[in-house]
Amino acid sequence: MNNQQFWEQEYKKSQLVTQSHKPQKDFLRFIKWIKNNKHINLYSGITVLDLGCGVGRNSFYMADNYDAKVHGWDFSSDAIEKAQKFHSHELINFQMRDIGEKFPLGDNSVDIILDVTASNALNEKQRSIYLKECARVLKPSGFMYVRTLAKEGDKNAQKMVKEFPGGEYDTYMHPQLNVTERIFSGPDFKELYNQYLEVVRMERKTGYQAFGKQRYKRNYWNIYIKNKNA
Ligand SMILES: C[S@@+](CC[C@H](N)C(=O)[O-])C[C@H]1O[C@@H](n2cnc3c(N)ncnc32)[C@H](O)[C@@H]1O
Repeated sequence: MNNQQFWEQEYKKSQLVTQSHKPQKDFLRFIKWIKNNKHINLYSGITVLDLGCGVGRNSFYMADNYDAKVHGWDFSSDAIEKAQKFHSHELINFQMRDIGEKFPLGDNSVDIILDVTASNALNEKQRSIYLKECARVLKPSGFMYVRTLAKEGDKNAQKMVKEFPGGEYDTYMHPQLNVTERIFSGPDFKELYNQYLEVVRMERKTGYQAFGKQRYKRNYWNIYIKNKNA
């Protein structure tokens, strides 16, 4: 089973992913940070790109609260169908799309890019395309939020990398989920993303990955990024 098949199955019968429509809490803190620091005027008709949007909880939040124009992309047809059915919003364009392929958007056209626990499932080749595309479409004044899996302090992740290697650096094939995921050390993340963009803040937090009735302790990075050419 490849990652896409895993996610299709997951949305049909969820064990891992949330189908809640409440926005993700750490993403809300990023939006508050943008607002408090006046980095972007969120009420100025901004454009948001929600990569791996799932059922659209964070896309809906941006359109409902800030009248943002949102592109919500996910490669699960089921997730996109559920997002579209939840409520049709004239400002949101949900599309079935792979975020590891070229983005059909113009240069410097996006104010905020969201990647809420999505790109950690990309392979290296896809990640390189995704990074170049994020840097290309982000406006010079734009910001990006990434929530991803951390290596530091996550014994579960480090054990999986050793026992179930995923074939590329710091990846594992999750033994229960059959999905390949990348974990990042802080320095590795910075080195990679700083080639294209500029990491301005990184914070590590412990969270829980639910699977069925079980909950696994995991560490996540919350990363705030700006355009290198700002
Ligand atoms: C953990 S879920 C998070 C969903 C959403 N960001 C949220 O916060 O509710 C990860 C999502 O990324 C999507 N995804 C993973 N790899 C992808 C890819 N290569 N292209 C598009 N979507 C992808 C999955 O289908 C899934 O919906």
